[in-house]
Amino acid sequence: MNDKGLKLGMGFSKRVVLTLAVLLCLYIIFYFFCYPNIKYKPWWSVSKIALFKAETSTPARDRFTPAARTPAVASPGTTRSQTLHKASTAGSRKTTKAPRPRGTTEFSYIGDRYATDDVPSQTSCANSTRKRVKGTTFKERFLEHVPVLQWHKHGSPEEYKRLRQYPGAHGWGSVDYETLMNTLSILNTSANRLMFDDWERRANGSSCIRCAVVGNGGILNGSKKGREIDRHDYVFRTNGAVINGFEEDVGSRTTMYTFSANTLRNSIASYGAVGYKGPPLSEETRYVFLPDHDRDYILLKAAATHTPIKKGPESSKIPPRYFGDNVTLEKFKMYHPDFIRYIRNRFLRSNIMKTEYRNIYRPSTGAVMLLAALHTCDQVSAYGFMTPDYSKYSDHYYDKRHRGVTFYANHDLHLELYLWQQLHKEGLIRLYMR
Ligand SMILES: *[C@@H]1O[C@H](CO)[C@@H](O)[C@H](O)[C@H]1NC(C)=O
Ligand SMILES: *[C@@H]1O[C@H](CO)[C@@H](O)[C@H](O)[C@H]1NC(C)=O
Ligand SMILES: *[C@@H]1O[C@H](CO)[C@@H](O)[C@H](O)[C@H]1NC(C)=O
Ligand SMILES: *[C@@H]1O[C@H](CO)[C@@H](O)[C@H](O)[C@H]1NC(C)=O
Ligand SMILES: *[C@@H]1O[C@H](CO)[C@@H](O)[C@H](O)[C@H]1NC(C)=O
Repeated sequence: MNDKGLKLGMGFSKRVVLTLAVLLCLYIIFYFFCYPNIKYKPWWSVSKIALFKAETSTPARDRFTPAARTPAVASPGTTRSQTLHKASTAGSRKTTKAPRPRGTTEFSYIGDRYATDDVPSQTSCANSTRKRVKGTTFKERFLEHVPVLQWHKHGSPEEYKRLRQYPGAHGWGSVDYETLMNTLSILNTSANRLMFDDWERRANGSSCIRCAVVGNGGILNGSKKGREIDRHDYVFRTNGAVINGFEEDVGSRTTMYTFSANTLRNSIASYGAVGYKGPPLSEETRYVFLPDHDRDYILLKAAATHTPIKKGPESSKIPPRYFGDNVTLEKFKMYHPDFIRYIRNRFLRSNIMKTEYRNIYRPSTGAVMLLAALHTCDQVSAYGFMTPDYSKYSDHYYDKRHRGVTFYANHDLHLELYLWQQLHKEGLIRLYMR
């Protein structure tokens, strides 16, 4: 080989290395940019590492800082560079070798075992979801007797021991025993136990409970579905559900309003300008807490007993007024953490759970609401949920200007979209599509 040939050879291999490096960088950027779309693991992610901290103080949130280039924003307190650093070391050997905190095995993280409630069916509906599910592909996953709501009966030292290993909305790991019991002990009326506490009064000869579950999706803009929605026995809504001025498209009634202390504050902050003033206030409205953190237990207790909150983000000298001055204890309900964990494990087991973001992942508030309806109503019609053509619509029906759907690392909206399609195809829900 002459000199020239050698030079050419070196130049060539340099170029190969450079090209490979660029391709690798593009792959990494592509992966983080399009994360929720990707249903396979990248080669550097290690599934079995225990990235999970038993005592996390970060509640799962519905609204993070929008995930500009990296949907992987761990918490509002985490800076972008920290996040990127964490992401880049996610699969490194160092992490793999890190000692596994006690009690954080794959099994105790998932915890696919739940309490059983023998709440008798509230109706004798011949054509109910619970009956129809047996003839579908969901029959194995669907547990008819999983508790949907938690109340007085569920609080005990044994149950606390079982559920404290799951943080956030999936257990009682984020709430101390005293705070928990202070709240559960007041949830002791039949209205706190039953989703449809006024059904007997309301039934009027009907044998099936028909529910409209209304998400906030932009597909509802111009839908003219308001009257159809209001004709159902119960109307479910969540978070920034603005009604004023949108009645023709979304209806005007709200029977079940689902939220968490955190999403409520975020909704007031984010959608105040489009007319969201707080939870709907009507005689028929019930408030169903999705407890992410001890803040939810504290807020429920204070609101139901009309006492001020002494510390935390909701603290105030006067009792919380989100739910009206005269709200009664009978109007409050709270989802059972077993129910949230059950739907995460069996209906929305996202690949995010294989990453270091698994501690902040939970089904979205809308998903919890829709699956709760599926487990309690006889017939479910869903409106304003993600559909395959979501990019044609704005994020919310009440947006002033078109804005695309934002994907956050703490939810898996693509997986939810896919689940709604499956449930619709199998006749378990009727999903509004255009
Ligand atoms: C049962 O209810 C579903 C959903 O509402 C409906 O599509 C179906 O036609 C009903 N079947 C019968 C036999 O009434
Ligand atoms: C809750 O209700 C049950 C049954 O009505 C009753 O036995 C129990 O004493 C009540 N507990 C509290 C704390 O009020
Ligand atoms: C009860 O049903 C009857 C007959 O379908 C109807 O005329 C009446 O308006 C209903 N009442 C209520 C309170 O919905
Ligand atoms: C709340 O109750 C008080 C006292 O009974 C009454 O004066 C007030 O009108 C009620 N407020 C609402 C919004 O119902
Ligand atoms: C809602 O629908 C109207 C009529 O089709 C349209 O002009 C408007 O831009 C839509 N709003 C958003 C936020 O997309």
